[in-house]
Amino acid sequence: MAEAMLGLKRTHRCTEVTAGDIGSEVTVMGWVQKSRNKGGIIFVDLRDRSGILQLIFEEKDCGEEVFAKAEKLRSEFVIAVVGRVEARSGAVNENLATGAIEIRAKQMRILSESEVPPFPIEENSKTREELRLKYRFLDLRRPDIQRNLILRSKVATMTRAILAEEGFLEIETPTLIKSTPEGARDYLVPSRVHPGSFYALPQSPQLFKQLLMCSGYDRYFQLARCYRDEDLRADRQPEFTQIDMEMSFADVDDVIAVNEKLLKKLFGEVCGYDLQLPIRRMTWREAMDRFGSDKPDLRFGMELKNVTDLVRGCGFGVFTSAIDNGGSVRGINADGQGAMPRKKIDALVEFAKGYGAKGLAYLAIQEDGSYKCSFAKFMTEEELKALCEAMGGKPGDLLLFAADKDKVVFDVLGNLRLELARQQGLLKKDDFQFVWITEFPLLEYSEEENRYVAMHHPFTMPMDEDLPLIDTDPGAVRAKAYDIVLNGTEMGGGSVRIHQADIQSKMFEVLGFTPERANDQFGFLLEAFKYGVPPHAGLAYGFDRMIMLMVGADSIRDVIAFPKVKDASCLMTEAPTPVDPKQLEELGIEIVKEKNPEE
Ligand code: AMO
Ligand code: AMP
Repeated sequence: MAEAMLGLKRTHRCTEVTAGDIGSEVTVMGWVQKSRNKGGIIFVDLRDRSGILQLIFEEKDCGEEVFAKAEKLRSEFVIAVVGRVEARSGAVNENLATGAIEIRAKQMRILSESEVPPFPIEENSKTREELRLKYRFLDLRRPDIQRNLILRSKVATMTRAILAEEGFLEIETPTLIKSTPEGARDYLVPSRVHPGSFYALPQSPQLFKQLLMCSGYDRYFQLARCYRDEDLRADRQPEFTQIDMEMSFADVDDVIAVNEKLLKKLFGEVCGYDLQLPIRRMTWREAMDRFGSDKPDLRFGMELKNVTDLVRGCGFGVFTSAIDNGGSVRGINADGQGAMPRKKIDALVEFAKGYGAKGLAYLAIQEDGSYKCSFAKFMTEEELKALCEAMGGKPGDLLLFAADKDKVVFDVLGNLRLELARQQGLLKKDDFQFVWITEFPLLEYSEEENRYVAMHHPFTMPMDEDLPLIDTDPGAVRAKAYDIVLNGTEMGGGSVRIHQADIQSKMFEVLGFTPERANDQFGFLLEAFKYGVPPHAGLAYGFDRMIMLMVGADSIRDVIAFPKVKDASCLMTEAPTPVDPKQLEELGIEIVKEKNPEE
């Protein structure tokens, strides 16, 4: 039976006991990692969130009764032990913080017994993730996950301190809000008091933080929970946390300056990384042209080259027809990969097709200077040579080309570049390459909706010099928007906001909102803007993503205590679940059975 603590008080966490404590008596409590009975002497590894400490039980020290209890210890029992700190009798364990000491137990209480856990509680678990997530409360005992969450807590605490120091106020905003169908899909919450009406869970505190600026709070921040009903990926969760902030009387450079300070302190303190300021900046246009992506991974080169003009008049129909259709031909030089076997090149072609390519043309320059080339028969020797030169190709290099509409070419080569870097092991996790991406397009055309939609959100300020284009060439207008990108991941993003009624109305007009609809959805913000609004700007980090990058985790789930899986369900609690019909009745909700397509 489990015993009570009965006046015992923990004096140390496991790894807080050090060689300096040798000779003194301590009381430690925790979980049995493992227990080995060597006949007359029992070794127990005790674990808590700080780490592991070795305990030794011998009948001569602890008496017959405690020794008999120690013989019964199994993994994950919770125990309290009083004992003396001694230098290790056996070999020092260099792998343990407490490897030079052990506790000679005098007293022991079994505070709680444990069934055999469904998987071992150990670092670098080989257990399937589904099983780990079903028993997340056990998985969370594993040292690597504990380290992640401890670091996460530290970063949250530091962020609060740093931002407070910079004059930011932490203010909470509501999570039952009005649905605004711009952006991702909302999670809806039905109202019992107003049958047929719904709240939405916030996708971000965007409008509220802008209102706080209208109300004079000047500098706001929040570790805000956000909800988005969108397709999940390795770096996306349906509910996630933002470090969200907004500043009044601020422009792009002000937001960037405060955030560079924040990032330098966080990455310095937490990762021991000496971030050099200022962080480099790159326009969206340049990022697309050079890396095929608005979140370029700058840990390696392999930049895209535009060879459209060079191949315009060549005999290769794939290239010329793409150009005739308004597209481009671009390539990357996978340098040193010229000897790649045909099978692996074919796999790259398939990879490219996964991103919408119709094909991938290649030219491998052999060590003797001859070519292996998928389009050699359509080009003259001179043309091939010129192409190699333009690509900086030398013997032993592999040149890969995509010809299509720009959007496809960028997507294909941007991803191919990453895939090649992955294959070559160029993505070092302890290298942190930051970049600000600036001057995003204000709008992007949605084929689906047949209208322009805001690339960031409808409150983002156009660049002053592009304002005149908003009627004539809306697609060319750039925004005062910026993303902070780290190692190819969009860690955060923000913008300067529109604070002038006339520009905001224009923006709604371009987005195809009637004044009535704009008023219906965002009336409260437009109303607030009538009563004196400071120019303001802000930014939000994906906090989970930031931690994921700091610890080098492969999945965002490894830095969230209770994450959801791909279909947005929780394997531990089994949420979402059907609810009691009575609850639905109260809400005035009836479930329509899914239609069988056969019927
Ligand atoms: P944005 O939509 O770019 O901007 O979001 C900011 C950051 O939040 C993170 N993020 C996510 N993290 C995990 N799971 C998700 N599903 C997810 N979606 C986004 C990303 C992203 O950079 N209100 C604006 C910010 C502003 O303008 O101030 C906003 O929400 O790291
Ligand atoms: P084909 O003449 O169709 O055999 O194509 C010749 C080469 O061009 C093959 O290596 C194809 O993979 C490649 N290819 C086809 N379409 C494209 C494209 N849109 N961009 C780049 N290469 C392509």
